[in-house]
Amino acid sequence: MKPLKLGVLGSGKGSNFVALAEAISQGEVPAEIVLVASDLANAPILLQARERGLPTHACRASSYRTKLEPEIEEELAQTLAKAQAELLVLAGYMRVLKKPFLGRFGGRIINIHPSLLPSFPGLKAWEQALQARVTQTGCTVHWVDETVDGGTVIRQFKVSVHPGDTAESLHARIQEAEHRILPEVVRDLAIGKIPWPEDPRKNGGRWKV
Ligand code: GRF
Repeated sequence: MKPLKLGVLGSGKGSNFVALAEAISQGEVPAEIVLVASDLANAPILLQARERGLPTHACRASSYRTKLEPEIEEELAQTLAKAQAELLVLAGYMRVLKKPFLGRFGGRIINIHPSLLPSFPGLKAWEQALQARVTQTGCTVHWVDETVDGGTVIRQFKVSVHPGDTAESLHARIQEAEHRILPEVVRDLAIGKIPWPEDPRKNGGRWKV
């Protein structure tokens, strides 16, 4: 089986990217990371990717905080297409992707979010969970659509909130769970165990990118 070609997008430290890259190099996930991209030129995820010898792309600086200018997002889309990414993995990517980008890659973008969606979408979901005094939260991998954290759920993993948990301790426990389910979901997509909205392997070939 040909490895599934992944484009990984992130804005932060890249621990989910590292978990995925390690699972791939240990032969647990039949995939290949063809590009690691960030909206922030100095994001640690890019350093992590370079240390592993993977191709990277840093977007030009944007004047917005929550989205990219259409031309910057178009450059990102073209770079991912040129790298022939078949599945895009949002691993801590902190901007909203716009319609032209989704039109191009829609149905093959997944995101990891640190709560049991639909509870606590948006920023700092672990703090939202603490404030809501829930006893259980977790993480979710879902398909990306034009909503924020609202696409179809693929898989969730529950994490208990312990008495005395701080934002840091709870976030760390959620991240441990993220590092397990993200590689598992990518593996299951690669081997066809999880259905795709539009399977890239249909019609005798991979996605035309
Ligand atoms: C993760 O908690 C993920 O759920 C959220 O952003 C964080 C990224 O962390 N979307 P990292 O950069 O992978 O360490």
